[in-house]
Amino acid sequence: MDSVWSVFFVASIFLFFLSAIFLYKKTSGHKTGSSQYRRSPLPLGTLGWPFLGETLDFIACAYTDHPESFMDKRRRMYGKVFKSHIFGSATIVSTDAEVSRSVLQSDATTFVPSYPKSLTELMGKSSILLINGSLQRRIHGLIGAFFKSSSLKAQITHDMHKYVQESMAAWKENHPIYIQDEAKKVSSLSLSLSSHTQKETQGRTDKDKQSAHTYTHSKYRAHVAFEAKKKMVKLVHKVIQEKRESNSIDSTVPKDVVDVLLNDTSELLTDELISDNMIDLMIPGEDSVPVLMALTVKYLSDCPAALQQLTEENMKLKKLKDGLGEPLCWNDYLSLPFTQNVITETLRMGNIINGVIRKAMKDVNIKGYFIPKGWCVFAYFRSVHLDDNQYNSPHQFNPWRWHEKDMSTCSFTPFGGGQRLCPGLDLARLEVSIFIHRFVTQFRWEAEDDSIVNFPTVRMKQRMPVWVKRRTDPQL
Ligand code: HEM
Repeated sequence: MDSVWSVFFVASIFLFFLSAIFLYKKTSGHKTGSSQYRRSPLPLGTLGWPFLGETLDFIACAYTDHPESFMDKRRRMYGKVFKSHIFGSATIVSTDAEVSRSVLQSDATTFVPSYPKSLTELMGKSSILLINGSLQRRIHGLIGAFFKSSSLKAQITHDMHKYVQESMAAWKENHPIYIQDEAKKVSSLSLSLSSHTQKETQGRTDKDKQSAHTYTHSKYRAHVAFEAKKKMVKLVHKVIQEKRESNSIDSTVPKDVVDVLLNDTSELLTDELISDNMIDLMIPGEDSVPVLMALTVKYLSDCPAALQQLTEENMKLKKLKDGLGEPLCWNDYLSLPFTQNVITETLRMGNIINGVIRKAMKDVNIKGYFIPKGWCVFAYFRSVHLDDNQYNSPHQFNPWRWHEKDMSTCSFTPFGGGQRLCPGLDLARLEVSIFIHRFVTQFRWEAEDDSIVNFPTVRMKQRMPVWVKRRTDPQL
């Protein structure tokens, strides 16, 4: 019996080394396609276990309070750019702001987005997150221009006021209020972007939001998410059909993103493409923006000096506008400097999108780092945002640092950069500013203990429970 075990043991070791050599040859023994890079070495690092690579270690760190510890450890050993093997792909991880900027700024002939298969199936092949080249630029341009328009910002401000007011009016003082859930309820983007102005679709909004919700939160439970997405696609298709049939689109003043895309005269935009993209646009409104709201409340609750200054700034604006008898408009919010610094600092520390993954379409050399064709690059923003060479005491919430610091550098990229820079960045800030303004000017609160979960998506573990008291001293 002993000899059987010995044979089995030796055979296992042999198989282990065989697969390690196979993996090593497949990923490290890369023959460069172009002579230009033939001499360039790969960045240092290890590809980890056969097949698994370093994925388990990555995930184990991702579940802790310091998901960047996976990167920190390797940064210390190999430098800011290193090779690894995560989520089934040979990957160059960049925690170097300039290397990541080069990756983001490259066009689709050099790098294309890369997502796990389960996600690409969910997104649909025409999603802006997956398409490349001129079609991506076209859609990005159309959506971006619409999101910048003051008419949309005015509409969002109006809607948000209404939703936030209605929702906060119902808050009870002797019950915990879950900020993350409340933020989700009032995040009006999904409505504003698809069909909020269409009276005939009003009855559908709850179902619509529910499907978006299920889709977002079950990205990792493929079947449920797929069913939810199918429902949403059907719904958006119906909206498109109705719009086409009723000929109701005003090309000069588009009311929502469906109008913007339907107005396009290039005939590149099919109904399938429009609905896939509408769904992508619903997700941040349902997910990232409410999380940003909840994180802002969390950091403010933990930093009384910042809360005090932010409250004073917002109270001052309220008093001024009340005195003039004017409602607050979108640029009032975006021009509150300290409030904007608080949101900026929340984006830096919160890292709602911790990085992006691209796949090299050819051999590339950036700052002396060789990236072979077919490899992925993980531009990991979180490590840059928490790098003590870039930010003093990076783990400390310090909105005052932004008085002097420039936001438009490659060491601050919560919204990505280059050709795929998030077109919704202003809207996200606007929504959060409105929510926070209404919250601090109407309530005082005590926060319960809660912590931030970073994987698979960033969120508050307990949904950020707070106990509120209505202000009886509206001027502070
Ligand atoms: C806190 C809120 C948000 C964060 C942190 C965020 C972050 C990001 C990041 C990092 C990217 C770049 C992805 C890449 O390079 O592959 C991105 C792209 C994108 N975001 Fe956002 N986003 C937010 C809110 C929004 C909102 C409110 C919208 C619109 C409703 C939006 C729409 C988009 C779209 C359409 C893209 C794809 C652009 C393209 O590939 O051309 N985002 N976002």
